[in-house]
Amino acid sequence: MQLEQKLKNHHAQYYPFHMPGHKRNLEIMGNVFPYYMDITEIEEFDDLHHASGILKEAMDDAAKLWGTIATFFLVNGSTSGILSGIRALTKTGDTVLMARGCHRSVYHAIELCDLRPIYLVPPICQNLPIFGSITPEMVKQALQENPNCKLVILTSPTYEGIVSDIANIAQIVHDAGAYLLVDEAHGAHFGFDAAFPLSATRLGADIVIQSIHKTLPAPTQTALLHICSAQVSLSEVRRQLAIFQTSSPSYVLLSQMQRCISLLQTNGTSYFTEYVAKLKQFYHAVSHLRKLRIRPLKEDVIFDADIGKILVDTSHSNLNGTTCANILRNQYGMETELAQPSYVLAMTSILDTEEGFSRFANALCEIEQTLLSASANTVVALPPIPHTICSIAQALERPHETISFSDAIHRIAADYVWAYPPGIPLIVPGEEFTTELLHYIQTLQKNGISVWSAYSHTAQIQVVQNFSAYSKRTS
Ligand SMILES: Cc1ncc(COP(=O)(O)O)c(C=O)c1O
Repeated sequence: MQLEQKLKNHHAQYYPFHMPGHKRNLEIMGNVFPYYMDITEIEEFDDLHHASGILKEAMDDAAKLWGTIATFFLVNGSTSGILSGIRALTKTGDTVLMARGCHRSVYHAIELCDLRPIYLVPPICQNLPIFGSITPEMVKQALQENPNCKLVILTSPTYEGIVSDIANIAQIVHDAGAYLLVDEAHGAHFGFDAAFPLSATRLGADIVIQSIHKTLPAPTQTALLHICSAQVSLSEVRRQLAIFQTSSPSYVLLSQMQRCISLLQTNGTSYFTEYVAKLKQFYHAVSHLRKLRIRPLKEDVIFDADIGKILVDTSHSNLNGTTCANILRNQYGMETELAQPSYVLAMTSILDTEEGFSRFANALCEIEQTLLSASANTVVALPPIPHTICSIAQALERPHETISFSDAIHRIAADYVWAYPPGIPLIVPGEEFTTELLHYIQTLQKNGISVWSAYSHTAQIQVVQNFSAYSKRTS
């Protein structure tokens, strides 16, 4: 079947509780994705990498909207912004502090810039196997222990919507003479209504990166890099963006980014007011459910959370997250963003319809009636972070061999392993593969979740040849 036909069929069949944030809402977005506007840089259309005309005006509008010093349009996703931002703020070999739950693009920046990462490991939530917030105290202590640290990299919100206390963390980071880069890929909608946290652009971060395609009405791949402090060199960021972004940016994407920003400028307040009302109605409609638990996340280890991310906790029932997502897809025509053994994650945005929310609530209420209660013992604990034996770059440069996950215990990874989404590495090159990690991977696989390494899709991993953690320790 032709891809185009498959996409049409899918559109007709399924409601999207996943990104992109335009939700294929053609009533609002129209049907404009045409060839007539598919150009790249030609006379009178400015140059994304040296903008001075129509693109500069559009980016200046975005800077005004987010209150930044400068904002750059990205057509290669937040990934390109993260790579550029980290490279602009560091020199080869620098020590950086980063949340362990960072997206893989942060690890790729570490690899490419040969940085020395010190991991901040957030606490795990009590009721779900997800990371909580990074606290200011954790950052302060790590900076005291690593006074040569040049940059702190945090993901806030996380994929699941967990937010850290960026205002206080920014203060601590700056007092220690370091920069703060916030991956706000999932928080481009923050700050547009009091029901959502404020954006890190207004809380003291130096660089903030947002995927507008994830939670705002904008096409896939569109993102923003915001410069929020005068300490950051604009020209160095621009130079890095020219390295990590295409030299043929799509004007279809650029025009739709500008359109998204105009929509927020002119009608943002009313869209967000309606969105919050729909979310509140949804949470109310499912608040009585006991086997499926759906409520905004509130736990001691969470500073704040995004109510737009709907987490369906299945751990109090005889249903696992993957089966729940399958039922939603196959019986109710709804596609969610992520299924894990004990929960399902749905993404919402200002363009979700009332009908979409009510279909979702009704489906969850009907599914609940078919379930048995279970004591919450199906929560799968996250494995401990593996020990680092050598740097990412050192591990990747040594001779490799490919072996199965089950043969990899005590071997040193020369590879990343992740379930995608969310793309957070379970192990990174240079770390020791552990029994706990193997058990965790096997549990994910048993629950129908694909676990991949960077080199293989077949439960295999590249490890460093003739070099085990054991031999390293005894040598
Ligand atoms: C936390 C986080 N950061 C960054 C990215 C990369 O964003 P993009 O897909 O826009 O490149 C993702 C992608 O899912 C993500 O989840």
